[in-house]
Amino acid sequence: MIWSEMLVCPHCGNEVSLWDASVKTKPLSMSDTFRCKSCRTQVPVGACERALESSLDAFGRKQLTKKRVIARVHGRTGSAKWQRPPTPEDHAVLARIAKAKLPKSAPNADLVWGELRRTGYHVGIEKLHHFYTKRNFIAMATLFDLAADFPEHVRDALRLLVLSYNSSHSTLMTRVVLKKGQSDFVLTGSQSGVLYISGLPVEKNILEGVRRKSKAFIDSFHLLHGSRSTVVVHNSTSESMPLKPHSVDYVFTDPPFGAYIPYAELNQINEHWLGKTTDRAREVIVSPSQSKGVLEYGAMMASVFKDISRVLKPEGLATVVFHSAHSEVWRALAQAYATAGFTVEATSVLDKIQASFKQVVSTVSVKGDPLLLLSKRRLDRAVGKTSSKIAAEVIRDAGNGSLSDPQLLYSQFVGKCLQLGRDIEMDAKAFYALARAEASSGPMPSADR
Ligand SMILES: C[S@@+](CC[C@H](N)C(=O)[O-])C[C@H]1O[C@@H](n2cnc3c(N)ncnc32)[C@H](O)[C@@H]1O
Repeated sequence: MIWSEMLVCPHCGNEVSLWDASVKTKPLSMSDTFRCKSCRTQVPVGACERALESSLDAFGRKQLTKKRVIARVHGRTGSAKWQRPPTPEDHAVLARIAKAKLPKSAPNADLVWGELRRTGYHVGIEKLHHFYTKRNFIAMATLFDLAADFPEHVRDALRLLVLSYNSSHSTLMTRVVLKKGQSDFVLTGSQSGVLYISGLPVEKNILEGVRRKSKAFIDSFHLLHGSRSTVVVHNSTSESMPLKPHSVDYVFTDPPFGAYIPYAELNQINEHWLGKTTDRAREVIVSPSQSKGVLEYGAMMASVFKDISRVLKPEGLATVVFHSAHSEVWRALAQAYATAGFTVEATSVLDKIQASFKQVVSTVSVKGDPLLLLSKRRLDRAVGKTSSKIAAEVIRDAGNGSLSDPQLLYSQFVGKCLQLGRDIEMDAKAFYALARAEASSGPMPSADR
């Protein structure tokens, strides 16, 4: 079911759904303006306030929230897919759900907001269940009730299955997007890295979705079946791992990249179902809401590398995936591993097939995460080139191609600096400006000429 928020006409106060005001079919499009049916004025969608309503939430608590109505129903009969406007029967079902009792696994959990709250689309959202339609909150809680009846190892596998679907697909953060050349909306999950709720949220069928998702789990269990290897998962802070000194051959770590994604805040959507949330005091992050700046972040990262050094065998190696467009964050990382006695043996760039949402939309981001291979060997670094000299060389070496993928080039620049033990003195923004300036100053000679 596609839901729609309600627009309030700034001229006459008449309410109309975003769907009715802006969605046009054949060809499918969304217009930026509409004619108000009441006062006949042409109104930009962007000039309309969203209607609010006071209602009782799933636990019967009074809530002032965005008014949302059902706009479109999608379904399947046999193998035939269909869609239609809502009918009185759909409204009758919603009225019945509004009176339904909640299953016992339904958590009445407070959300703790940090960096991700937006005054617009998060109005009234204080509790976990405010991220769900009541129907889907009941569906989730019912699955948790059912999982609870199984022996512990099956119960936990079932919870993992349901939660692997939950935060991307079960909440009001699920969306439709309009893609060029498509005759219908494209159904998509939530945007990664944020808690965004669109003007046209989608209520998916969780039972269908989890059933589909189970295929990936069944395939993985087939793959692993009969394997004699053992995997131990420790859920603890990496600042003090429950591992013996010099017991580890190899470490692969993908630590938080400064302020990039507030994981503890995001992960509440899954963690509240398990009854335990991340201890934010131990979260390694740059976060104003947690009063952690680059200094605090660097100190926590230093404790992590210290503990990595403690558990790693003397000849052991550690790979770190890292990315930031900010030189101060790179410096904090470099200082953290250097203090723990690590040096960079080699660098490379992890070529991810799909950039994350944040990387695509951030004004300055880095594509292709740099990879660092660390060892405890003491390497002699000859004093030499400054990081701006290295930047100029990397740009010159790339020649005319430097502008086609400046983000990848920044990753290469960072890798070179770290490998040579140099401070990174340039943010991605300054580096891109240098690359643009070099490109406009004519054909670029190769670095070794
Ligand atoms: C870049 S993400 C890693 C994502 C992971 N590689 C994956 O694909 O799901 C960084 C992770 O570090 C976690 N983290 C933050 N502070 C931590 C700490 N003190 N100890 C262990 N993990 C921490 C964050 O919660 C986040 O899940």
